[in-house]
This record gives sequence, C-alpha cells and structure tokens, in this order.
Amino acid sequence: MKILVIGATGLVGGAAADALEAFGDEVLRASKSSELAVDLTEPESIQALFERIGSVDAVVSAVGSVPFKPLADLTADDYRSAYLGKVAAQLDVVRIGTPHLPDGGSITLTTGILAREPIRTGAAAAMANGALESFVISAAAELPRGLRINAVSPTVLTEATGYHSSFPGFVPVPAAEVGRAFVKSVHGVQTGQVFAL
Ligand SMILES: NC(=O)c1ccc[n+]([C@@H]2O[C@H](COP(=O)([O-])OP(=O)(O)OC[C@H]3O[C@@H](n4cnc5c(N)ncnc54)[C@H](OP(=O)(O)O)[C@@H]3O)[C@@H](O)[C@H]2O)c1
Repeated sequence: MKILVIGATGLVGGAAADALEAFGDEVLRASKSSELAVDLTEPESIQALFERIGSVDAVVSAVGSVPFKPLADLTADDYRSAYLGKVAAQLDVVRIGTPHLPDGGSITLTTGILAREPIRTGAAAAMANGALESFVISAAAELPRGLRINAVSPTVLTEATGYHSSFPGFVPVPAAEVGRAFVKSVHGVQTGQVFAL
C-alpha cells in the first residue's frame, strides 16, 4: 500500500512510518519541516499536500501540540490552542483527506492515554484526546465507500524520556510497539476503534 504519514519526523509518526515500511508499504513521510511539507493548522496547506501527492491508500496523522499546565493556570487561549493544535488539525486531515482516498481506504489519528487516565497538568491534553476519540467512533459510522477510521492512543513512550517524570508509575510503551498499532489500523478491518496501549 501507499501510505501518507503526517508527523513522520516525530517519535510517534516515525515509529508508524518505520513499522509500515517494515510491513512492506511505500510510505510518504510528511511534516511541518519535511521536504513533503504540510502545516495541519492551515487547511490550504493540507489541501495542497493531497493535490501534490495524488492518491494514497491510507493516511496516518501523528501530530498534536497541547499546553501542559496546572488546571488553575489553564486559560481560554490554552484550551483553544489545544483544540487547534491537536483536534482541529487532525479533523482537517479527515475532512480534507477523505475525498482523496480510494474506496476501502483508511485514516488513523493519534490521541493518547490522557483520554482515559489523568496526570497533573494534563487537562487540556485530555480534552483534546477525548474529543478525537469520540469523533472517531461517530465518524466511522458515517464515512462513505468503505472508508475506515481509527485512533492509536498510546501511553507515554519509552523513548520520550523528557515526559517520564510527569507520568509517575505509568509503564512506558516502546515506540516499535506503537508503530505496530498503526499497522493494525491500516491493514486490519477495524473501524471506529481506539487502539489503547
Ligand atoms: N511521545 C509520547 O510519549 C506520546 C504518547 C502518547 C501520545 N502522543 C501523541 O502523539 C502525537 C505526536 O507526538 P510525538 O511525541 O511524536 O511528537 P514529536 O516527536 O514532537 O513530533 C511531532 C511531529 O508533528 C509534526 N508537526 C508538528 N506540528 C505540525 C503541524 N502544524 N503540521 C504538520 N506537522 C506538524 C512535527 O514536524 P516537524 O518535525 O517537521 O516540525 C513532527 O513530525 C501527539 O499528538 C502526542 O500527543 C505522544
């Protein structure tokens, strides 16, 4: 299959791209600074990317920036920033990408464990992850032409050592294992699922 991975220079997107390539897929690696550049906060940029690459069998989005702050310090702008940087960015991949996918294609988004387990400073991220996971359940029911949609929702990655102190007692997951969840989403039959790991 030919697969677009957005966020491919990142930890999660890189793991997804590597796992898909190891499975035998042709992977187009895009990100904000890649040669295959896209800014998910700019709908025109997403449209231009899909026009540039032509048809792909599946799309993976592994992007999302959110502010981490104590609940009492989170401002309305912080919540807006979490929404724009993680939720709207990935919703636009679905909205703009869907017409470019062939029948039976798929979209896989990235959320995270904060949708189901709290940490200190994680409220805005939890909001973003939960919104996307609810969206995936509903969108799967309405996507046309046998298109599928899932989310991969990892705990903190083993390699993301800078975050480990914020996740006390959590058992990190290796990037390679997270990558395999994207292979399952792209090559499996599931839709409307959240792959939690
Ligand atoms: N790391 C973890 O432990 C972990 C755990 C659970 C969930 N997650 C989630 O996984 C997602 C990716 O996290 P990560 O740790 O892989 O982050 P990362 O290593 O910082 O990588 C982020 C990726 O997103 C790209 N990107 C950033 N802003 C973009 C934009 N506006 N448009 C297009 N691409 C953009 C970056 O591209 P450039 O390099 O070109 O700027 C990079 O490829 C996030 O939603 C995060 O919440 C991460």
